[in-house]
Amino acid sequence: MEEERLKVFLHSLDSPNAPYLNKIEKEARRDKVPIIRQDMQSFLQVFLELKKPGRILEVGTATGFSALLMASYTPAQCRITTIEKYDKRIVEARKNFASCPGGERITLLEGDAEEILKQLGGTYDFVFMDAAKGQYIHFLPDILRLLPEGGVLISDNVLQEGDILESHYAVERRNRTIYKRMRDYLYTLKHHPDLITSVLPVGDGAAVSVKAAGRGIRTAGTEEDTNPEQGRQVPASPEYMDR
Ligand SMILES: C[S@@+](CC[C@H](N)C(=O)[O-])C[C@H]1O[C@@H](n2cnc3c(N)ncnc32)[C@H](O)[C@@H]1O
Repeated sequence: MEEERLKVFLHSLDSPNAPYLNKIEKEARRDKVPIIRQDMQSFLQVFLELKKPGRILEVGTATGFSALLMASYTPAQCRITTIEKYDKRIVEARKNFASCPGGERITLLEGDAEEILKQLGGTYDFVFMDAAKGQYIHFLPDILRLLPEGGVLISDNVLQEGDILESHYAVERRNRTIYKRMRDYLYTLKHHPDLITSVLPVGDGAAVSVKAAGRGIRTAGTEEDTNPEQGRQVPASPEYMDR
């Protein structure tokens, strides 16, 4: 309850978005399209202001709310590429991009992100991961390839409404694969030698990672300390992760 009151209070401090964003947000909530929560909005704004990216990559467009929001937070030279595979949402997103400010800076790529990411080249200095949670771990190798040194990766919904804390047996059977993959994903973000990551209880959980080649965690007192090549392996997740 206290947590709920705190959230209401913090949200009351936020400045309102532009009317066109409010409209898209309202329609998405009405149609039960999962879009970013209010606390994630100012969180993104702060990181975009800090990073000042030239090229943003978003995985998971839905109807385009967060892409247009990020466009509203960034200057005219910033380009946004966003990926969506669900036809009905692609149609809505295209409509929204065509009619809203900043939409001309957004490129929508249609299809499965796992395939599309493999085909992308160049670099994106800010990546917003907001698609199917069970697939984040599969997207990561390509995201890391596309992220330059100093690039920022923000992954949304990583705490799975609290399920992430539970033992394997307490999670409903149908959610166990996602649960296991998300635990592996978080473990990888926190132990990858090229990533520095902080996981925060913002919205449904946000992981902020910065690419810092070779400066992520390394196991002290092992050969990795003397052999930088071996240091690039992510240590296997410990037993307790599989409970
Ligand atoms: C949480 S919603 C994105 C919300 C959006 N970022 C916003 O806040 O406005 C996740 C979206 O990712 C899409 N998605 C899930 N898995 C995908 C995949 N493998 N490839 C492309 N899109 C995917 C879903 O269809 C869904 O529309």
